[in-house]
Amino acid sequence: MNLIATIKEKAKADVKHIVLPEGTEKRTVKAAELITKEGFAKVTLLGDPAAVSKAAAEAGADLAGIAVVDPAASPDFQGFADSYCKMRESKGMTPEKAAETMKDPLYFGVMMVYSGQCHGMVAGAENSTGNVLRPALQIIKTKPGISSVSGAFLMISDNPQLGDNGVSVFADCAVNPTLTAEQMAEVAFCSAETAKELGGIAEPKIALLSFSTKGSASHERVDKVAEAVKIAQERYPELLVDGELQMDAAVVESVGQSKAPGSKVAGFANVFVFPDLDSGNIAYKAVQRWGNAEAIGPILQGMAKPVNDLSRGCSIEDVVNTVALVCCQQ
Ligand code: ACO
Repeated sequence: MNLIATIKEKAKADVKHIVLPEGTEKRTVKAAELITKEGFAKVTLLGDPAAVSKAAAEAGADLAGIAVVDPAASPDFQGFADSYCKMRESKGMTPEKAAETMKDPLYFGVMMVYSGQCHGMVAGAENSTGNVLRPALQIIKTKPGISSVSGAFLMISDNPQLGDNGVSVFADCAVNPTLTAEQMAEVAFCSAETAKELGGIAEPKIALLSFSTKGSASHERVDKVAEAVKIAQERYPELLVDGELQMDAAVVESVGQSKAPGSKVAGFANVFVFPDLDSGNIAYKAVQRWGNAEAIGPILQGMAKPVNDLSRGCSIEDVVNTVALVCCQQ
């Protein structure tokens, strides 16, 4: 069984309620139908019911079994606006601005997750990553002990020698333009959780990547990665973390073991942590396009409750698969 099929089976065993704020977006509406028919999640679409029905008719989607909620007309609207106002008071939020903000389905959807009405949210088919992330970062915030949300991809290669039988985790490929050593260590921890929870990787082997391997080059950026390794090893002693490693030293046993002899990670890594968003984002797209790997994500990790972003170029299948992932995230 492939990874997504396994994830859907896991989701089916404990059906979760997921909110899709882009309820007037055609791919989203069609995905809602398919998810409902597959039965692995209960779905609520947000939007004006007439506009949602119009999108459904245009997409040829059947809305049977799918709830449609118009944020502004919802009995929860005022309560959500009041809670949002209270939590953002110190940032200058006013009741008027909060009520205006809550008309935005992305904010309303995040409040449905925050309040426990829904397990998670998926959006991004027609909104930028920043617009999807901002309400979640403001309202849901991070898990205890985590300061930064990051974005991981499950990279699936048909070469079983790469990663864990072809499955690897790459991060951060989506969120933090720059990372401190401390943040990089946290990304390592969160990525190991993603590897276990969604990638089926029983033993994450985490490489913190650089253009240097074990001091082969001197630069402040190399020092940052070496410091991140130290922090991660001290803070998460149960994890197999090593670095700084170049990509070839991380994945090719002969290279890794010649440059970092005895390392349990060098040459065997299945989780790859990049030093900044430039390298992470470019690497996952390069591996996807040149290497013909399947890239599943971004999976937002470190958030207190699951919210996931889609690419605006996503397919209906991408929406379906992302909902399945969110169902399995804690
Ligand atoms: N983790 C946790 N909280 C965060 C994070 C983070 N990584 N980043 C920002 N925040 C918090 C801030 O502390 C702030 O909280 P507060 O308002 O309660 O004080 C809130 O989120 C907003 O922060 P800002 O920095 O003001 O928000 P901004 O909107 O400017 O930036 C964002 C946040 C959207 C994540 C930004 O860093 C960003 O755009 N990142 C790049 C996203 C991107 O374009 N990725 C590449 C494309 S995705 C792809 O290719 C798959």
